[in-house]
Amino acid sequence: MTAGVSEIETQLVTDEFAEAVLNGLAQPRKSIPCRFLYDARGSELFEEITRLDEYYPTRTEIGLLKDHGAEVADRAGAGCAVVEFGSGSSRKTHILLEALTGASAYVPIDIDDAALTDAASRLRADFPRLDLHPVHADFSQDIRLPKEIEAAPKLGFFPGSTIGNFDLDDAVGFLSDAGDLLGPESDLLIGADLQKDRDILLPAYDDARGVTAEFTLNLLHRINRELDGNFDISRFAHKAIYNDDVGRIEIYIESLADQDVRVLGRMFHLKSGECIHVENSHKFTVPQFKALAQRAGWASEQVWIDDNDLFSMHYLTRS
Ligand code: TRP
Repeated sequence: MTAGVSEIETQLVTDEFAEAVLNGLAQPRKSIPCRFLYDARGSELFEEITRLDEYYPTRTEIGLLKDHGAEVADRAGAGCAVVEFGSGSSRKTHILLEALTGASAYVPIDIDDAALTDAASRLRADFPRLDLHPVHADFSQDIRLPKEIEAAPKLGFFPGSTIGNFDLDDAVGFLSDAGDLLGPESDLLIGADLQKDRDILLPAYDDARGVTAEFTLNLLHRINRELDGNFDISRFAHKAIYNDDVGRIEIYIESLADQDVRVLGRMFHLKSGECIHVENSHKFTVPQFKALAQRAGWASEQVWIDDNDLFSMHYLTRS
């Protein structure tokens, strides 16, 4: 008997996860790539983060989209196909698509199949005339766009300051690849979180109710479940720091004791206080972000910022 497509796919994802975890835990400075935070439960918890009082980026960016959607529509023009990198729940997409009355198609790209199917069915109901072409993929890997949108002008959409989750050189690489994918005449609407006081930054990544902590520690549950791990979650803690030198939030899972853990039959030792790095979130000034975009072949035509100087939304064109 042959395995079904979804079984093969699940196997590939598991192998990739296994490799990343075994490799990451074997490093002198332990580290696991952030994309593995987003399994079904992780995506659910992240959704919850975006609704926290402390987490200002989501509501601020939504405000910017509502206030400036018409200007975005003017720039994007008629008939454009919107391509979203890491669409998740597509909540912001609704607001964008409401403003972009002339859009012809929407292509959500996401690593979480359930979120993708869910979002697609809601959008299908709300925008019946829009062509929907969901792509189930890791947007940081090699992707191909559906050929149905080949002829349309493209507007990339990359909200949430997810660009800040890349190392800076990788961010340039991603933006440059996105430009190649979208084509020579394309535009990109992108959210970039601004540099600000750490008293606002830190609670956004370490909220009072502990939702963010649950989100990071969910990675250990995932390892236990999918990779036959034996992490005792009560002996680990979520840790967020602000690294002034690089201007970024860094997220870690800290070991609260000297302990050994087992993953897929392999043992790893963690000292008390030792940290597993899981995420960076860079914060930018407007000139810093413009320079970054420029290195990747994009020009920032317009930038919108909220009244409290929390978050920026750039309209980039291929330069
Ligand atoms: N793109 C989000 C950000 O950098 C991701 C994020 C928010 C995140 N909170 C987190 C990642 C906590 C890991 C842990 O703001």
